[in-house]
Amino acid sequence: MDTSSNSKDETGVLLIGHGSRLPYNKEVVYTLAEKFSARHPDTNVEVGFMELAEPNIPTAFNKLKETGVNKIVVTPVFLADGMHTKRDIPTILGLELEDISDITSGPAPESHEHEHHHEHDHGHHHHHHHDEEVETVEFDGEIIYTKPIGADDHIVDIIDERVQDNL
Ligand code: NI
Repeated sequence: MDTSSNSKDETGVLLIGHGSRLPYNKEVVYTLAEKFSARHPDTNVEVGFMELAEPNIPTAFNKLKETGVNKIVVTPVFLADGMHTKRDIPTILGLELEDISDITSGPAPESHEHEHHHEHDHGHHHHHHHDEEVETVEFDGEIIYTKPIGADDHIVDIIDERVQDNL
């Protein structure tokens, strides 16, 4: 590929949000992506959603791939790891899955919808069609799949600010 035609970095960034029927999750993840982009104007950044919102992960990934990047860093904009970050997203990305059988109490893959509903106990998560074929990505380059946000001190700062602002 003629890389001179593309002044952007050869590394792209894909942020993954959970997705929601309401607009707030999408707004937050897109705003974070815009702010990240502002810090890295030469990097191609895309946003994809695990479920309930578009674009889905393969669509966003392929858009990034079409920019000619040879490396894609994928960061789940999730606070903690869960079935989506440990199983669903790596499956979509075609990555090797970690052995998480010890923490998933061993149900067969075809019963994963049950597990998932345990994870989302808000009662609005009836969209998982576990019989559907999972759309996966194909990429000749390198995929680097990062940890989620986690219990970072920056997050404590935000919690602290929310609390203090309301006292
Ligand atoms: Ni979910």
